[in-house]
Formats: sequence, structure tokens, C-alpha cells
Amino acid sequence: MEKTTQLYEGKAKKVYATDDPGCCIVSYKDDATAFNGLKKGTILGKGAVNNRVSNHLMRLLEANGVPTHLIEELNDRETLVKRVTIVPLEVIVRNIAAGSLAKRLGLDEGVKMRSPVLEYCYKNDDLGDPMVNDSHILAMGWATRAELDQIAGYALRVNQVLADYLRDAGIELIDFKLEFGKTADGTILLADEISPDTCRFWDSKTHEKLDKDRFRRDLGGVEDAYQEILRRLLGE
Ligand code: TMP
Ligand code: ASP
Repeated sequence: MEKTTQLYEGKAKKVYATDDPGCCIVSYKDDATAFNGLKKGTILGKGAVNNRVSNHLMRLLEANGVPTHLIEELNDRETLVKRVTIVPLEVIVRNIAAGSLAKRLGLDEGVKMRSPVLEYCYKNDDLGDPMVNDSHILAMGWATRAELDQIAGYALRVNQVLADYLRDAGIELIDFKLEFGKTADGTILLADEISPDTCRFWDSKTHEKLDKDRFRRDLGGVEDAYQEILRRLLGE
């Protein structure tokens, strides 16, 4: 299938229409931003790593009961996906305190939570993606009760499946962000990406960070960390 018009350009991806109204092509960029676009840079090879890692993990999730937008990887950077309307929420699941949770609750990074923490943020760059709860989501009409229950169920299932899978690759799943979409017939699917841009991955033994925090915090070794995730998950 061929790209036709560009529908959208985000910070890390472009989305194109195709001649099939039910399908889009996503193209992953090497551009990296942090702190709501305040910090900008390039991570060489990131687009290809994120495309391949995300598709690999989405295939695993499909096989474990989580429907996703994935149709077919077209090449290193491009993937054919089902066309959806994105539910304007960042759905975050956390197993270990880090990042904004550690800051908000005054916890040391690395403290294990007693049970997974589920958070929602309203996707809006101008507002800095504010955290919202179920009641805001229903009151604003971003999702219905049934849709939100389905999203929450899928998010916790993703956590279980990924945490188990990554553990075998020597990676601890600290936290991650998901986005869901709705097809024309109202089906909720896991969309966007699951990659070192959108997850915190720590080496299980050394606790070395193998994700975008290396870029956010100027830790160095950014490209190597992305390649290491590709190597551990896809064996190359
Ligand atoms: P946080 O601790 O900064 O709130 O991030 C939680 C998780 O969400 C972490 O795995 C990184 C991911 N994330 C995104 O994918 N996009 C974002 O814009 C932010 C702020 C976090
Ligand atoms: N991608 C987000 C931004 O540019 C933030 C992040 O991943 O830290 O604002």
C-alpha cells in the first residue's frame, strides 16, 4: 500500500493516509524531544529501533489478548496500521517509582509500588498534559465508562505481559505510557507505540537506564541504549 497525503506530524512520528480509508502508514523519526518539546535533539537510529521494537511488542500483546492497530511492518521505519481516532489520554502504568511519580510523592526512584499504579493524563501540549481521573474523563466525554473500563483492563494486561516478557530479557519494566484509539466501528485498540521513548527500562542486574531518560537527563550513551534494547528483544 502507498502513502498518499500526510495526515499528521508529531514529535516522533508522521502519519500518512493510504488509498484504503481504514489504514494509515506511520513513519518513525529520529527526532527526540523532552519536557513538552522544550529540549530537542536527534537520536541516530531511534526511528528504526522504535518501529521494530514497538511492532515486536504489539505482536506479543496481540497474541495475549490485547487488540492493537498493527497490520504490517513495511520497512525499518514504516508500519501499516489500522486508522483510529486517538482517545486523548496518556495511559500510564507504574511498577516502580520514577520520574514524575517519584517527584510528586517524594519517593526515591527505584522504590517498588505494592501494586501497579494507573494514571491518566489529558493529551494537550498547551496545558502540559495535566493528570486527570475517571471523573474528568467521563465529564469531558473523552471516553465512556465502558470504554474506560476496557482501556484500564488492557493497560493492566499490557503491564503483566510485558513485565514477564522483559524480565526474561534481563529488563525491568519500571513504567510506561500507552495510547488507545477507536476505529470507525467503535472498537478500542492499543495504538501509538511501545518503545524506549515511552517506557522506562532498567537493566535487571545493574539498574542501568536503557531508555529515553538517558536523553532527558543528559546521561550519554543514548544511541547505545536504544540499540541494546533492540538487541535484547529482537536478537540483533
Ligand atoms: P513520567 O514519570 O515523566 O510521568 O513518565 C511516565 C512514563 O511515561 C515514562 O515511561 C515515560 C512515559 N512518557 C511518555 O511516553 N511521554 C511523555 O510525554 C511523558 C511525560 C512520559
Ligand atoms: N515526548 C515528550 C515531549 O517532548 C516528553 C517526554 O517524552 O519526556 O514533551
